[in-house]
Amino acid sequence: MNMIDIHTHILPQVDDGSPNLETSIFMIEEAVKSGVTDLFCTPHFYRLKNYRSSFSHNQAVFNELQTVVQAKGYPIRLYLGSEIFYTIETIQDLRDKTVIPLGQSKLVLLEFSTGDDHEDLGEAIHNVRSLGFIPVLAHMERYRYAGDKDWAIVKKMGALIQVNAASVLGISNRSYQKKVLKMIKQGLVDFVASDIHQFRSNHLLEASLMIQKKFGFSMVEQLFHNERPLHE
Ligand SMILES: [Fe+2]
Repeated sequence: MNMIDIHTHILPQVDDGSPNLETSIFMIEEAVKSGVTDLFCTPHFYRLKNYRSSFSHNQAVFNELQTVVQAKGYPIRLYLGSEIFYTIETIQDLRDKTVIPLGQSKLVLLEFSTGDDHEDLGEAIHNVRSLGFIPVLAHMERYRYAGDKDWAIVKKMGALIQVNAASVLGISNRSYQKKVLKMIKQGLVDFVASDIHQFRSNHLLEASLMIQKKFGFSMVEQLFHNERPLHE
């Protein structure tokens, strides 16, 4: 069975994810040990933080990493994507292919501000969908302005929801865990992913064991083996 991580910062020297190839390989080895079979590299595209590594540069770095991974014979498939900080420029960026969906799919990983300002998630979803893409909202549990109803509304609008494995375990923040488990129970979550950066573990194995214990294996399948990004 495929285990899919749709949100990682593994590519070297394109954002705050990995400082060099050696670290990237270490992160891939951890993914393999955790059972990940399909991994999407999703570098930040976030102009305000000056993460604006171009698609062509990311593609070149990705090809290099993939060559090393294949030479080492690791049983893992890699795909390229972007984690896009949503702004009014995002639609044009998608049209220009400055930013890209997850692999060959129509799924687009979007991130929003975690501050106190209420972001208009609905408008972002509407705009991205009007281009024919399916928005995936990255680490939804971090958007404190999004109440329980908002999770249901964004799903109704046709977006998918990703939460972080560390939040499932309550590692970074207990309130994130409470929120995530409640939303999983309501069937509103589509993906658990690592959002891995060099300074943390991917936590996927522990998170999947915990979900299995609490909700059973069918929920593990729904959240960790969701193959939509491989086919749609
Ligand atoms: Fe991320």
